[in-house]
Amino acid sequence: MNPIQNRRILLVDDMPTIHEDFRKILLPPSAAKSALDAAKAALFDDEVKSVEVPFELDSAYQGEEGLAKVQASLGAGRPYAMAFVDMRMPPGWDGVETIEHLWRVDPRLQVVICTAYSDTSWEEVLTRLDARDRLLILKKPFDNIEVRQLASALTAKWESTQQAGLQIDQLEAAVEERTVKLVHANEALQAEMSERLRRESQLVQSEKLASIGQLAAGVAHEINNPIGFVCSNFGAMQGYFDNLMQLLGAYERAAAQLNSPATTSGLARLREDLQLDYLKEDMPGLMRESREGIERVRAIVQDLREFSQVDSAQEWRLANLHQGINSTLNIVASEVRQMADIVKTYGQIPEIECLASQINQVVMNLVVNAAHAMGSERGCITVSTGTEDDHVWIEVADTGCGIAAQHLSRIFDPFFTTKPVGKGTGLGLSLSYGIVQRHHGRIEVQSRVGEGTTFRIVLPVRQPSH
Ligand SMILES: Nc1ncnc2c1ncn2[C@@H]1O[C@H](COP(=O)(O)OP(=O)(O)OP(=O)(O)O)[C@@H](O)[C@H]1O
Ligand SMILES: [Mg+2]
Repeated sequence: MNPIQNRRILLVDDMPTIHEDFRKILLPPSAAKSALDAAKAALFDDEVKSVEVPFELDSAYQGEEGLAKVQASLGAGRPYAMAFVDMRMPPGWDGVETIEHLWRVDPRLQVVICTAYSDTSWEEVLTRLDARDRLLILKKPFDNIEVRQLASALTAKWESTQQAGLQIDQLEAAVEERTVKLVHANEALQAEMSERLRRESQLVQSEKLASIGQLAAGVAHEINNPIGFVCSNFGAMQGYFDNLMQLLGAYERAAAQLNSPATTSGLARLREDLQLDYLKEDMPGLMRESREGIERVRAIVQDLREFSQVDSAQEWRLANLHQGINSTLNIVASEVRQMADIVKTYGQIPEIECLASQINQVVMNLVVNAAHAMGSERGCITVSTGTEDDHVWIEVADTGCGIAAQHLSRIFDPFFTTKPVGKGTGLGLSLSYGIVQRHHGRIEVQSRVGEGTTFRIVLPVRQPSH
């Protein structure tokens, strides 16, 4: 049996006798017939469902009444499958107008328009109604079997149209479901691919940095020894110099008492030629400056060693972040100095378990980015630290150009850069992101275009067992 059974028919006609005729034609003669059918079915072991489902016939005597019935049927969820509509129904709407109204509320309704007149321009009617395949024309006088067959065929058509519609809906739902699955699968694939790319480039970059770090630490180590003895020699030389000056003073005093004018004038000429007075004045300054220079080289070497942490060779250990940040700031000072002032607002923080050289890398990337974000006006970079539960945070805030909203989601992607070719590789932040992840921390960014950007790294004090 068709799951969508609908044998409901509406007759719209102003003549009561027509309604009588349709009732005789379409409705079963009596309930007795159905009973007889059922008995027959039982007797001959026939299935009762083979008994033909009877039509249901409703009557309306004017177009307006027909419309009300169609609306009520829709409201009750029992739509009509078809309607027979008379062409002329004074004083109300004619058949064409009625059908227009009916289809406006129920476009699925199959309609037979009934007419006794041949004066109608059917072409015009069909165009006006946009009838397509849902309108048939029945001319009076009716033939009973014609009416019955029309009713059977059109109710069945309504049913199969509904059925097809349902199947299309199901098909569309299935296609939609598949499409959604495909889209998800595609997204997952894309995400995996970019994650892979990120990891690979991070690996390359971090290996590169590690070897640069090792090189720097090696050079620093080599310089450290000579600087050490130059420094201590300087201490001794300062002592010798003071002694020599003392001796020179004594000689000068003794020379003043000499009675040989030739020797005295010779000494005076030599003193002139050698600019001894100037030398005595200038020498201490030269010694002091050289000493300061050597001290500076020593500090740079120390910063390089601290920064690269090659001494502790990538070991997880407790480290003082402030020490690392300070040495990093010293290293980038020359690059940053022309563009911005650096302000430090350090809080009280405990030592944290980390790969210190890598955290230094992150801070360096952030500070250099901040410096690059400065425009023609000199700006300010504030480096702050603090604690948050059992985490420590480092913030690098700048008064630079800010990051446009459409870039914000991409800055951690490998190779994303807004800098000119050859200026930025676009790996700084993606590498930093990887390092922070490795420390089970997080990196956050807040930015306002034209006002500045703040990066915040939050790191746990202790690592989960690794
Ligand atoms: N503080 C900041 N202010 C404004 N823009 C920033 C800031 N930090 C990062 N960006 C933006 O994010 C992009 C990516 O930064 P990232 O450090 O990954 O690469 P890069 O600086 O362009 O190149 P690299 O660091 O490899 O030299 C930058 O090109 C810039 O557009
Ligand atoms: Mg960068």
